[in-house]
Amino acid sequence: MSFYELILVMHDITRWLVLVVGIYAVVRAFLGWLGKKPWGKSDHSAGVSFTSIIDIQVLLGLVLYFVSPITTGGLRNFGGAMKVADVRFFLVEHSLIMLIAVILAHIGSAQVKKATSDLQKHRRAALWYLGVLVLILAIIPWNRLFN
Ligand code: HEM
Repeated sequence: MSFYELILVMHDITRWLVLVVGIYAVVRAFLGWLGKKPWGKSDHSAGVSFTSIIDIQVLLGLVLYFVSPITTGGLRNFGGAMKVADVRFFLVEHSLIMLIAVILAHIGSAQVKKATSDLQKHRRAALWYLGVLVLILAIIPWNRLFN
């Protein structure tokens, strides 16, 4: 197995961790918000785990960007690559939107930390993490599952 294949498999598997931990963090935050529960250590850990696993996935993605034949080939002829939907997807759309997602995850997590009441912490976690999760879900290459 080449280095590229190894990173691709890791990036593929970590996708599921991002989704499972993300759904857990969002559901916890909504239950806490709507049920007016106190903000606890597990709520904090859920948010930290979600942002950390996204960090790892983005790092893997950045490595992939410079070893994948799709993106390295695309970088050699950027103009031409932009005309091929499948190449443009990884070269620009997937990579850029995932980078925006990780920035939003960190802004959201800082907003949760700054909140002054338990209710406000739950509400901010619910809305920020849901937004990040929707963005990630929207730009995952799901068609790869069926190839
Ligand atoms: C939460 C963030 C991310 C998720 C959930 C995610 C998910 C995925 C998935 C599921 C694949 C398909 C893997 C496969 O077919 O085996 C993929 C491919 C890819 N991702 Fe990401 N990704 C993320 C962030 C990034 C970032 C930030 C970059 C680059 C800056 C990136 C670059 C790539 C590239 C280049 C490929 C295609 C590699 C190839 O097939 O040769 N990803 N990503």
